[in-house]
Formats: sequence, C-alpha cells, structure tokens
Amino acid sequence: MEAFIQSVGAYAPPRRMSNNELAQLVDTSDEWIYSHTGISFRHIADESEAASDLAIPAARKALEAAGLAASELDLVIVATSTPDYVGLPSTACVVQDGIGATKAGAMDVMAVCTGFVYALETARAFVRSGSARHVLVAGTEVYSKIMNWSDRNTCVLFGDGAGAVIVSPVHDDAAPSRILDSILRSDGNGATALMRPCGGTRSAYVPGQTPESELALQMDGRRVYIFAVRAVVDTITEILERNNLRFEDVRYFVPHQANRRIIEAAAKRVGIPIDRFYLNMHEYANTSAASIPLALDEMNTKELLERGDLIVTIGFGAGLTYGANLVAW
Ligand code: ACO
Repeated sequence: MEAFIQSVGAYAPPRRMSNNELAQLVDTSDEWIYSHTGISFRHIADESEAASDLAIPAARKALEAAGLAASELDLVIVATSTPDYVGLPSTACVVQDGIGATKAGAMDVMAVCTGFVYALETARAFVRSGSARHVLVAGTEVYSKIMNWSDRNTCVLFGDGAGAVIVSPVHDDAAPSRILDSILRSDGNGATALMRPCGGTRSAYVPGQTPESELALQMDGRRVYIFAVRAVVDTITEILERNNLRFEDVRYFVPHQANRRIIEAAAKRVGIPIDRFYLNMHEYANTSAASIPLALDEMNTKELLERGDLIVTIGFGAGLTYGANLVAW
C-alpha cells in the first residue's frame, strides 16, 4: 500500500520580529542579515508557548483539510529539536492528547533540521507496511527559547513555527499522489558543528556552574555552510538520478529554509535555476524541522501545487543529518 500526503496545515505565532528590532538587541543590521541570509522577519512564540502549542493548531488544520477526526489517526510523529520537555515525555504525546488522537501511538523524531524529511519517510514506512493507516507528521520548533540572544552569530538566524501533514494510504492505483522515494543520511562526525553543549547527560546542567551560553545553541557557521551546500547538491543529484528524472520534471524543490545563500550556491552548482526553489525564509527565518511543512502549507494556500506535481524536499542540519523526499503532491 503506497502512501500520500493528504493534507497540510501550519501555525506561526503572531509576534513578528524584524531585523531592525534585532539590531536593538545585538550589534547587527537589517542590511547584514538580509544580504547574508535572505531573512527579514522571524515569528516568536510568547513566554507561555512550547513546541506542542504550535504543533496542535497546525495539526488541527491538517486534520480539518483531510476531513479526518483525530480519533482516526494511528500514529502521531513530531519532529522537533526544541521539545516541551528535556527527553521525557515526548512532545508527540502532548500533541496526541491536545488534539484528542485517542487511538494513536505517539513518538518524537529527532533529526533537527532534517526532522521533517525523516518523519515523513517514517510515516510512509508505517503506512506501506500496513502498521498504520492515517499518520500525523508535525514539525514544530521554538528556537527562540534555546537562543543566546547576545550572540549575533546565531540569534539572527532562527524563528518559531509549526507545520503538519496527514499521510494516508493510496487506495486508487490511478491516483497521482504518493511519496515516491526518500534519502536519509547522517554524519555524526560533525556533531559539534551545531549543538547545545550542556544540559544533556554528556554534560549535565550543574546549578551555579554551567554557564548559560552552554545551554544555548552554538554553531560553527562556516563549517555548517560548507556541509549544507554539499548536502543539498548531493541529495538532489542522487534523488533525481535514481528516479530517472531531470530537474525540469520537478515542479518545485522545497529546501529547509536555513539561508538563501546556501540554496543559491547549491542551485548554481547543481545547475538548477533558483526560481525552481520555493523560499520563504524572509518571513520565518530558520524554523528547523518546521520549515519544510511551513513552506508546503504556504505553497498549498497560494495554490502553487496541483495533485501529481513532483516536488523534492531537502533537509540538512545538526547531527549532522541530511536527506530528501521525492513526492508526487
Ligand atoms: N551581524 C553583523 N555581523 C555579523 C553577524 C551579524 N548578525 N554575524 C556575524 N557577523 C560578522 C562576523 O563577526 C564576521 O566579522 P569579522 O570579519 O569582523 O570577524 C563577519 O560578519 C563575517 O563573518 P562570516 O562568518 O565570515 O560570515 P559569512 O559570510 O560566513 O556568513 C553565516 C555567516 C550567515 C552564519 C554563514 O556562515 C552561514 O550561512 N552559515 C550556515 C548557517 C546556517 O544556516 N545554520 C543553520 C543550518 S542547520 C540548521 O538549520 C539547524
């Protein structure tokens, strides 16, 4: 039984922070941020909002668009690297309860910015094996709460948001929509390039001793940039080649929305015009596992996609992880 994306929904917190506003917090400027990243705004969750609070409205929208009741879900998968709680319980369980998915299993997938790509393939595998019929896949992040707001190298890059899709079985062989292929890859050798050094079991939080900056996200920007360009080029090349496709066959490439420059450099190297890539980081900045479903929801709302259109999602991020999904919409 093949699987397809039945519907999509998204939610971004209403609070919208501009580059100029950030320039009042750290030594930066709208000109620097936009020219180096393509980012103009980011949405910021309020004090009370956790990752599940963003995922729940996104999930409800996706369920409504699919015409499904939450009780019809067999599985809730949440991709997040900013979970409600450290390790336990899973954010997926909080979302499962919040939407009333009373008959569903629930689990988190942690592949950081590649989280949605990994979670979508996980959902596809469950549906194809017959272990689940309807699966909710949500990507949700509240990076504003793990930022060092005095580090201009990182705090200008990230934002908060959530997106969700419903993955369901294809009953009609003639139907054009399905998830066709995925690539999931990792390189743990680069684990230190993008990390929160303390607060886990490697370097536990010690009150009064652990510096606050060690609990926040830290990044070697150059190293991540070089890795990311190569990851985008390699995954696009491989997924096209092994499916006997040319880039012209693909309606849109939907990359993780980290940085416009990464996508431009990769597009140039792989010989694909930049307008084939759907980009919305100017509005949301980097929302990690949420960025691809947020983009898909925006594309769907703008009616940019028709059933059967080929799209390639591309993820890359901490871990290091990277990967892609080839989807007939
Ligand atoms: N405002 C102003 N100046 C800044 C800022 C800022 N926000 N941040 C850095 N600078 C300065 C640096 O201090 C440096 O100054 P110096 O030359 O006096 O030392 C100068 O700008 C240039 O720094 P570079 O690091 O060389 O700038 P670069 O052109 O490489 O751009 C960037 C930096 C945008 C972070 C780039 O390295 C990059 O895109 N890296 C990938 C980041 C990323 O996307 N990470 C997330 C992907 S994975 C995931 O999503 C979890």
